[in-house]
Amino acid sequence: MTDSEESRHRLAEAISFHPATEEGRRFREALGRFATGVTVVTVAGPGGPVGMTVNSFTSVSLEPPLLLWCPARASSRHAAFLAASHWAVHVLGSDQIDLCLRFTKGGAGFEGLPPLVNDDGVPILPAAAARFDCRLHAMHAGGDHSILVGEVRNVTIAGPADLPLVFAAGRFGELAPG
Ligand SMILES: Cc1cc2nc3c(=O)[nH]c(=O)nc-3n(C[C@H](O)[C@H](O)[C@H](O)COP(=O)(O)O)c2cc1C
Repeated sequence: MTDSEESRHRLAEAISFHPATEEGRRFREALGRFATGVTVVTVAGPGGPVGMTVNSFTSVSLEPPLLLWCPARASSRHAAFLAASHWAVHVLGSDQIDLCLRFTKGGAGFEGLPPLVNDDGVPILPAAAARFDCRLHAMHAGGDHSILVGEVRNVTIAGPADLPLVFAAGRFGELAPG
C-alpha cells in the first residue's frame, strides 16, 4: 500500500464524536494515540514521601525554566501535591517500568527504597533518565485535574545511552534509535 492509499484507508475508518456523547468512552483512546514519556513526581507529604506516576508532564518555558503536570483531583495523592511548595519530576528510562508501577494505584511507593532527598528536602528516586527539582510557580484549575506549573531549580541528567520509557495506546515501550 502506498502512503496516500494508507492515509485514505485511515480516513475511511475514522470516526468523529463529541467527548460528552456515548462515543466519548473513546476520548481516552484518541488521547492515547499521543505518545508520551513517563515520569514519577515526588513530594514530601504530611505522612511521609509520596510519589505519583504521571504522563501529563510537558515543558512550558525555557526562560524562565518552567514545566507542568496534572494530578487528578480524585487521586488520594492530590492533596499532598497541592499543599507543597516544592516537588521533583523524574523522567523514567526504558528499564524503569518497576519504578513506574510502584507509583500507580496500589503500588509499593517508596517502601524499600533508600531515603534520599534533594536540597529542598523533597524525596527523590535513586535513579532516573532526568530529574527536575521544582518550586511551585503557578496552580490552575483544569476540570477534574489540577495544573501545576513548576519553576525548575536544578536539573540532573543521566548519560546519553539512557533511552526514555515511552507510553502510548495504554502500552509501555521504548524508542528504536534511528
Ligand atoms: C502511564 C501512566 C500515566 C499516568 N498519568 C497520570 C497523570 O498525568 N495524572 C494523574 O493524576 N494520574 C496519572 N496516572 C495515575 C496515577 O499514577 C495513579 O495511579 C493514581 O493517582 C492513583 O490514584 P490513588 O492515589 O487514588 O491511588 C498515570 C498512570 C499511568 C500508569
